[in-house]
Amino acid sequence: MAEYTTLLVEVQDRIAVISINRPDKMNALNEGIIRELGRAMEEVTEREDVGGIILTGVGEKAFVAGADIAELAKMGPVDGIDVSRLGQRVFRSIELSRKPVIAAVNGFALGGGCELALACHLRIASENAQFGLPEVKLGIIPGYGGTLRLPRIVGKGRALELMLTAQFIKADEAYRIGLANKVVPQAELMDTTRKMMGTILANGPVALGLAIECTTRGMEMSVDDGLALESNLFGLLAATSDMREGMTAFLEKRRAAFTGR
Ligand code: COA
Repeated sequence: MAEYTTLLVEVQDRIAVISINRPDKMNALNEGIIRELGRAMEEVTEREDVGGIILTGVGEKAFVAGADIAELAKMGPVDGIDVSRLGQRVFRSIELSRKPVIAAVNGFALGGGCELALACHLRIASENAQFGLPEVKLGIIPGYGGTLRLPRIVGKGRALELMLTAQFIKADEAYRIGLANKVVPQAELMDTTRKMMGTILANGPVALGLAIECTTRGMEMSVDDGLALESNLFGLLAATSDMREGMTAFLEKRRAAFTGR
């Protein structure tokens, strides 16, 4: 495993856990953290012993309380474009990861932290979690994909309500509007997230990757193009040994032993 100064990265039972490690600043994302997150995602995605990834924050208060406001305060317009593009690139790599990524939201997920959670495929929140896109309070807008991803997940009306009021919502409200997939007591957050990942990883890995790709890209296309992508990927899976194994295992009433081929 590569050395990281701003992240904790560990792999256990085919699950990589990447924890953002800056609890004294509510895990606010500075440029160094975003760059390391990009490298860590690349590393764990390429590792054959990793099936899925959990992103979380160190400590009990914050998942990530946003981009580093002290850093943003110094930017000019050209830096602003660079800052936004860097975060967008890293978050897009998370969204398009062929391995499932779950955000274990252990506290505040604000601004860039909410956007990071939105780029993950699923979000499990602890009861003390709060979500918000308060950028307009600072005179900016979300710049890491939040204006696109939030309305796709909760609908345009709710997304604009969060963005325009800059108010935070609690975990139960996030669950109610479909922003959080599940809410659990903080002490159970990592166990619940690992358990859900374990359930996911019992399935065919190639199929998981293509389900993510088809859903993510499909939502960005016309229905006709998305349907064409779906049927082509469906056909591609028919060429995998995992498909034979999955169906044979069902017919033989046993658990499938997938190889990812
Ligand atoms: N960028 C930089 N530093 C941040 C930060 C951010 N996004 N969020 C929190 N911090 C820092 C605080 O400045 C403080 O640092 P200090 O101890 O050196 O003064 C430390 O983290 C603890 O935060 P504090 O505000 O004292 O904690 P709190 O419990 O009173 O409030 C929050 C927690 C999350 C509600 C509050 O920190 C906050 O509103 N953060 C900014 C959220 C935001 O606007 N995010 C969008 C950015 S684009």
